[in-house]
Amino acid sequence: MVDVILGLQWGDEGKGKIVDYFAPNYDVIARFQGGPNAGHTLYVEGKKIVLHQIPSGIFHANKINLIGNGVVLDPVTLRRECESVAAMGIDYKKNLFISERTHLILPTHRALDKASEIAKGNEKIGSTLKGIGPAYMDKTGRNGLRVGDLLDKNFVTEYIKLRLKHQRLLDSYSFHEDISAWEEEFFDAIEFLKQLKIVNGEYFINEQIRAGKRILAEGAQGSMLDVDFGTFPFVTSSNTISAGVCTGLGIAPQMIKEVYGVSKAYCTRVGSGPFPTELYDETGEQIRKIGNEFGSTTGRPRRCGWIDLVALQFACMVNGVTQIIMTKTDILDSLTELKVCNGYSINGEKKDYVPFQMNRVTIDPAYKSFEGWQSDITAINEYGALPAKMKAYIDYINGFLKVPVKYISNGPGRDQIVVA
Ligand code: GDP
Ligand code: IMO
Ligand code: MG
Repeated sequence: MVDVILGLQWGDEGKGKIVDYFAPNYDVIARFQGGPNAGHTLYVEGKKIVLHQIPSGIFHANKINLIGNGVVLDPVTLRRECESVAAMGIDYKKNLFISERTHLILPTHRALDKASEIAKGNEKIGSTLKGIGPAYMDKTGRNGLRVGDLLDKNFVTEYIKLRLKHQRLLDSYSFHEDISAWEEEFFDAIEFLKQLKIVNGEYFINEQIRAGKRILAEGAQGSMLDVDFGTFPFVTSSNTISAGVCTGLGIAPQMIKEVYGVSKAYCTRVGSGPFPTELYDETGEQIRKIGNEFGSTTGRPRRCGWIDLVALQFACMVNGVTQIIMTKTDILDSLTELKVCNGYSINGEKKDYVPFQMNRVTIDPAYKSFEGWQSDITAINEYGALPAKMKAYIDYINGFLKVPVKYISNGPGRDQIVVA
């Protein structure tokens, strides 16, 4: 059977920590989409690690970690990450597997990402500039190179052909940047990649399923950044929702059992695009400061706001979420008042759904107010010991979403989680 952990908001919900927490219950941890735009933070023996491409199960011995075909892979980032986990005593050569169908991010994809963002000016997406959009465009445009192509004798010729196409596009953007240093690093990293375990991911994972192994699919980004269901065009370029597990790993839908949706107890967004419950005041600043809300990949300050139940309900619907994991609850410890968005007023009319184009309409969120619990919850390890005011907050969210909040994360550490 296959379970899924994915983000319900605009990313950075704490998926890395949660995958690391659940990993002991599984045999295989697999990334199914996204690429080095992701930044998943884990604390291993008190040390902070940010993973971009390697699945968050890598710190558990004897677990298979698979990079699925739905991912776009930057060999340079992967190599760096492998070296940093090796320095912590992890045998990635044994535990890391990569699908041969995984598309490669080339240096020119990164350049194209940058050129496209510059050309958009004020309307830029706020991309992480890791080449994600251009790499997925080459996948759907049927131009891309895949990990399996590395082993082909024509790889360099195919690379040069694609590079030429990209050069014409870069010229049309009047984008001129010397990428020769990137290319050198890229080809070094390609040699490194060839030594890793490159597998036929779909047979590999289905054989594991047949053998009764337990699979955990690890999402990147969040549901509101999904290319189909997110706040388009301010989204990423992959299907971040549970359906992406099937196409991103080669798994049949009926294999999927639990869909764990991760949500912060409030909400953040990094990059451009609509965010109805965003706070522009001191409270927003306070949450950013206490929550250390700065991007794990780019270091950019994250925009902060109240939890948005209209958007969360939408995310639960499109993902088929079976259990909610609420993270960063401790960040709200000192707040005197908390708010929960339980409806929108769109162009003056009351609505309870996510509109087609969030940034073409005026959305005024309706809020229900809660008293803050104003106590330190970071050392609590059983549900009964949580403050009553916090339970009231969670109960309301439970009732609204009709999906149970089953886990409450109250700190970044591996053990800081309360089971409801
Ligand atoms: P991801 O992209 O979903 O894996 O999330 P990120 O790693 O980008 O951002 C989440 C941040 O919150 C990281 O710095 C985590 O260490 C931290 N974190 C996760 N859960 C908790 C929690 O319950 N409390 C606190 N204080 N920090 C948390
Ligand atoms: P994790 O997995 C938060 C955002 C970017 C930008 C938009 C498009 O750590 O939750 P892209 O580089 O994909 O073209 O950027 O999506 N974004 C993320 N925001 N967490 C992420 O990943 C993100 N990955 C991309 O900021 O707004
Ligand atoms: Mg992140």
